[in-house]
Amino acid sequence: MAVERTLTILKPDCVKKNLIGEVTKRIQESGFKIIAMKMTRLTKETAGGFYDVHRERPFFGELTDFMSSGASVPMILEKENAIADFRKLIGATNPAEADKGTIRADFADSLGENIVHGSDSVENGKIEAAYFFAESEVVANRS
Ligand code: CMP
Repeated sequence: MAVERTLTILKPDCVKKNLIGEVTKRIQESGFKIIAMKMTRLTKETAGGFYDVHRERPFFGELTDFMSSGASVPMILEKENAIADFRKLIGATNPAEADKGTIRADFADSLGENIVHGSDSVENGKIEAAYFFAESEVVANRS
């Protein structure tokens, strides 16, 4: 299996609930290597840029309001089969449909406030990682 990278964001609900440590522990114990990490507060505009593909959706305003409502923690994760394995670890987008024991089933309140983001493809993972991190901030790229 190929080593892949995925971009995750510990969303404002994760930070407000003091779950950064718990969620990061689950991520690391599942074999993901954190190769870039920062804490930031998105603006409505930067959240909109990140979720640009959803701009025409009815929930776009709600999504960008929520994502700019507090601090969040983007990370680049590396692992074999990272895209699919991470989506398995976090569970379905809607926590009501997420498998038992997944991060969203355990901690998320709603479809809109679902604790974490995970890239849906290797290609989007690259685009999303570049949205938050310069090459020089990715430790795996430094000697
Ligand atoms: P995420 O995986 O970060 O990607 C897009 C986000 O949009 C998704 O998680 C949800 O949090 C959010 N989202 C998707 N559908 C809806 C919806 N119907 N109402 C509110 N938020 C949504």
